[in-house]
Amino acid sequence: MQVRSVSTTPFSDQKPGTSGLRKRVGIFCQPHYLENFVQSIFDSIAVPQNAKLVLGGDGRYYNREAIQIILKMAAANGFGRVLVGRGGILSTPAASCVIRKYRTYGGIILSASHNPGGPDGDFGIKYNTANGGPAPEKITEAIYAASKTISQYRIADIAQEISLDKIGDSKLGDMTVSVIDPVGDYAELMESLFDFAAIRALLSNGFRIKFDAMHAVTGPYAREIFINRLGASPDSVINAEPLPDFGGGHPDPNLTYAHELVEVLYGDNAPDFGAASDGDGDRNMILGRHFFVTPSDSLAIIAANAHLVPGYKLGLAGIARSMPTSAAADRVAVALNIPCYETPTGWKFFGNLMDAGKVTLCGEESFGTGSDHVREKDGLWAVLFWLNILAVSKQPVEGIVREHWARFGRNVYSRHDYEGIPIDAANGVMKLLHDRFGDLLEAHFGNYKVLFCDDFSYTDPVDGSISTGQGVRIGFTDGSRIVFRLSGTGTEGATLRIYLESFEPDIAQHHLDAQEALAELISIALEISELRERTGRACPTVIT
Ligand code: G1P
Ligand code: ZN
Repeated sequence: MQVRSVSTTPFSDQKPGTSGLRKRVGIFCQPHYLENFVQSIFDSIAVPQNAKLVLGGDGRYYNREAIQIILKMAAANGFGRVLVGRGGILSTPAASCVIRKYRTYGGIILSASHNPGGPDGDFGIKYNTANGGPAPEKITEAIYAASKTISQYRIADIAQEISLDKIGDSKLGDMTVSVIDPVGDYAELMESLFDFAAIRALLSNGFRIKFDAMHAVTGPYAREIFINRLGASPDSVINAEPLPDFGGGHPDPNLTYAHELVEVLYGDNAPDFGAASDGDGDRNMILGRHFFVTPSDSLAIIAANAHLVPGYKLGLAGIARSMPTSAAADRVAVALNIPCYETPTGWKFFGNLMDAGKVTLCGEESFGTGSDHVREKDGLWAVLFWLNILAVSKQPVEGIVREHWARFGRNVYSRHDYEGIPIDAANGVMKLLHDRFGDLLEAHFGNYKVLFCDDFSYTDPVDGSISTGQGVRIGFTDGSRIVFRLSGTGTEGATLRIYLESFEPDIAQHHLDAQEALAELISIALEISELRERTGRACPTVIT
């Protein structure tokens, strides 16, 4: 095989964010842009000769072209075999599953998650290590450093296209390209964790479900699992055809962007259960009939009911949640007498805890839930967990949630996102908050009195690494909390997130609307941050 060494110059903007490198397609398509980043990955991970790599993506625009380039670069960089999903497809949790099952050296996942796709949308790439999880900061920092000094990359000098559409092996120089079924290994793993017989019985008894794949990667997975293996009716899965531009939609499973599903679940003759997943299949939204389950509550309810599910009936080692996620899971951990860890935002912080056997379940308020079955959050896994709980408990979604609140109290919760604001204004808000820490400690806001304010930092209990600047927390004496954080995944300007939480122990308050219940905290947040004045925004872009 002829290997070409191509001279190149660094791009200055290849710093991986919360989950890999995400940019507009136009940026990724520039000559050498993708190649530079891929070579920076390979240069940062000391690839042993003949190592195995997993490769796949969420099928968005530029997926296939990128896979061709990466295969040729993998061959030129000494990999022995690349396992690639048929058609270049692998959901993020399926990629994690395949890395673990076939014990590969790592994997490259092509996705910008829930960001829109298409020629004017976003593209992304991230590297996962042998445990199946996102590369830790040590590696992402090394990749960024390598990207700043790169002067050449290696690529196989082969003009022909590698066929991705037929399962089986072929040769690319000395390297083997194994095209694998993207769904089979993952579906098998799900079947090993959940009581498929109980779910099948539930579905055959008239329990109706609707899963919205949002024209993204989970369509083929959902069809195989819900329809073929669990016997759900064919119309249970909507928008199941993956499209390079996600049908023009925004594949983010929340109340704003998954509105088609929301309308069905809040409409007349609504099904019993609704769920959606995002572009790359790692997020989930859970709905009951006319009912929304917040992701923070979902994590807590999954933890409290894990004993009903075969894969978890022996108990949980512990729970981890990201800092902005509500403390609902903490209350369950106390009841189960297991530890609960609070980590910075982003899935990579959960990996060490799971590898060390310290936690079984983890979750984020941003519609991410998962367990140690893989090292990524997992949308369909969460949906199956709920279906298993519903099948065994024989209660509706709303009944399960209300019973949970009655037992543990309710952490009323909401997140307000201000997307695409000027970077200077966003930084100004964060700086102002820091400057005000001292004054806030003295301040009273109606019934609210500040107990503490800080910028969250985390010391990893496994490897001792420290992550600072993870979000401004303002805690009040009654246990309420406001968190301000700048997003690490946006590609346009800055996104400022405000997370609001209060605790309601009294079940008589159950019918409270979260926005109403949090109204006073919301106005405190706006007042102390001067957000409206500094950004000119009258209201958030997305409320969840
Ligand atoms: C967002 C979410 C975060 C999640 C990440 C990747 O990151 O808030 O919880 O891990 O997407 O799905 P952010 O944009 O806030 O940095
Ligand atoms: Zn995602």
